[in-house]
Amino acid sequence: MKLNSINIEPKAGIDAISIFVPNKYFSLETLAKARNVDKEKYTIGLGCKKMSVLSPFEDPVTMAANAGMELLEKNDIDPDEIGYVIVGTETGIDASKPIAVYIHEMLGLNTNCRCIDIKNACYAGTAALRNALHWTLSPGSRGKKALVVTTDVAFYNLRSAGEPTQGAGAAALLVSKNPGLLSIDLNNESVYTREVMDFWRPNYSNTAIVRGHYSLECYLEALEHTYKNYKKYTNLSFDDFSHFIFHTPFPKMASKAFKQMLKMENIDFDNFDRLFSQKVANSLIGGSELGNVYTSSLFLALNSLIEFGQAAEGRRIGLFSYGSGSSAEFLSGFFEKDISQWSHNTSLTEKLKNREAISYDRYVLYRAAYEQRMKEGYYGDDQPSENSRFVFRGVKNHQRQYSYFPCTSSKKEEIADQIDKN
Ligand code: HMG
Repeated sequence: MKLNSINIEPKAGIDAISIFVPNKYFSLETLAKARNVDKEKYTIGLGCKKMSVLSPFEDPVTMAANAGMELLEKNDIDPDEIGYVIVGTETGIDASKPIAVYIHEMLGLNTNCRCIDIKNACYAGTAALRNALHWTLSPGSRGKKALVVTTDVAFYNLRSAGEPTQGAGAAALLVSKNPGLLSIDLNNESVYTREVMDFWRPNYSNTAIVRGHYSLECYLEALEHTYKNYKKYTNLSFDDFSHFIFHTPFPKMASKAFKQMLKMENIDFDNFDRLFSQKVANSLIGGSELGNVYTSSLFLALNSLIEFGQAAEGRRIGLFSYGSGSSAEFLSGFFEKDISQWSHNTSLTEKLKNREAISYDRYVLYRAAYEQRMKEGYYGDDQPSENSRFVFRGVKNHQRQYSYFPCTSSKKEEIADQIDKN
């Protein structure tokens, strides 16, 4: 018998989602001009329009805190409800101290809360979600909810093939029992691991090292393996999935992935355009605007589908998560009753509109500042504001310096006195 949303018990999944979209972006058309490349190579060949760029007072911690803060505030979540914070990232800022502990403080969470980071290239976001799902169902969670946060900066060498696929962003998910937004089918999972050198970033390097075309092959191999096994384990067919969302290093990768699935299904390629626009296209809008957001990529695709697509209660979506190196998973979930409130109403459209384009010179300047982010030094006296609640101010005495407004905490006034941690 096929699985459906009604007979999956116990239920756990995503109750709320928030994406942090950096305020600055750099246009791929401008980059193409600077690199003397046909702009269609980037906009059509890769499917990218813009890349998010961090300004010097932002870093993976401020992005994560922004995503988490919006999630709590917009959904009226008491910080005391959170018992577990799991951050998925491959842009760590310390070999020892987790980003989760910084944002625990910045969000004013209860001390009775476990906080950890997970690293596994882009797959770390899905690994964090899996971990959170199992914890919420365990008796030890005592009804508390988990906060999954993903945060990354995709950063390649200037003039490298990967440069047009750069990006930055963060996502926050509230993970709970009986979720209102998306329940995950916990009875089934299909995973894949194979040691490959397709993409990696040694500790001494700011930029990733990539065997670009080989990485595409590794991604597609992992998809083939996990999708085939998922169908075998569940007895589901292609038509049982209303939508597919993919890890999206650049939007064209998702169309290559979907083509591969059609090939496996023996579906005539004449149907590609129709099926792609029905099942995939809307989930790629965020990725084309922000670039590769690594661990947040799958969640940005989910948010895009909800904002721009036809997400409806009871529909099953297939999710493919890939992390270089490599680890991958195919899983699925069902939209739940609250989807009607979220559909076309996630604020992603507004966030994409309210951004500022930067020039090539500023792009180069911000890159240079980003490259200094691990070194001792101050970038300025920027103070938090309504638009920029968390400010990275540099590194002093080997300690990262942040200023912020932790506004959701029940201890709001007490903590507000310490706004400037210096
Ligand atoms: P490249 O070699 O410069 O590009 O870099 P290309 O020559 O392959 O061209 C790209 C596409 O543009 C091709 O389309 C061209 O035909 C087309 P395709 O044949 O593939 O369909 N094209 C044009 N189209 C229209 N008009 C034109 C034109 N010219 C060419 N004038 C590459 C491409 C992806 C290799 C590079 O961007 C790269 O190295 N990116 C980084 C690695 C990456 O994103 N890998 C993806 C899979 S691995 C992954 O997803 C994991 C990751 O997220 C990291 C993690 O897990 O942590 C990266």
